[in-house]
Amino acid sequence: MYVLAQELNRVGVASAYDRWAPIYDLVFGPVFRRGRRAAIDAAEEVGGRILEVGVGTGISLPHYRADSRITGIDIADQMLDKARDRVKRLNLTQVERIAIGDAEALDFPDASFDVVVAQYVVSAVPHPERALSEFLRVVRPGGLIVITTRLGAETGVRSKIERALMPVTSRLGWRTDFPWSVYGDWALRHPHAELVERRPLPPLGHFSLVCFRRTADGQDNTPTLAHAATA
Ligand SMILES: C[S@@+](CC[C@H](N)C(=O)[O-])C[C@H]1O[C@@H](n2cnc3c(N)ncnc32)[C@H](O)[C@@H]1O
Repeated sequence: MYVLAQELNRVGVASAYDRWAPIYDLVFGPVFRRGRRAAIDAAEEVGGRILEVGVGTGISLPHYRADSRITGIDIADQMLDKARDRVKRLNLTQVERIAIGDAEALDFPDASFDVVVAQYVVSAVPHPERALSEFLRVVRPGGLIVITTRLGAETGVRSKIERALMPVTSRLGWRTDFPWSVYGDWALRHPHAELVERRPLPPLGHFSLVCFRRTADGQDNTPTLAHAATA
């Protein structure tokens, strides 16, 4: 099993994005535009109740169809303030709720969404596998998990560089060291998460669209952090 180079700290990540909030759309708007479009298209093939985890400034929200029903959560207050402003300013009636929330301990009942979307978030979460298990828990059987994600190298020079950059990029709020095996290892332990799409996205193929379907009879009993705490 691949061991990520460095732990992230949730409070540190939230502060990093609070600092990014005033300029986030300017810096990260255009660069991820095509990836966001691909994620929304995938999500709306299923449609319905959509949870956007790590909704940030709400940059995606205007691009969902009016008949989608979106809940957005994030850990960074300043990012959420921007999202709330956007919803109000653009009268985005498809957005039902914007709230503080942690990907690793989602405050929603099992199977309460048709789709979970996580755009450029999973690599910023301290324990990515816990977040993935939470996505699987809150999506209904037959529903979809749509992820846009950084995918780094497993081995070789690029992997060494990505690991070496971690002390810098973790302070900025993300990991450079994030290979496919994070997803692959998790999926092996969760047979009710069926990989249905994995394709590179711009820029430079360092990011990918990854979609898992929760199989129709999906009962996944793997304990998550939230379940373990209440068990
Ligand atoms: C790179 S930004 C992506 C924002 C937006 N999804 C986009 O497409 O631009 C990562 C977002 O994930 C949020 N985030 C990081 N860790 C999180 C966690 N554990 N739970 C919820 N949101 C988290 C950050 O606060 C930030 O808003």
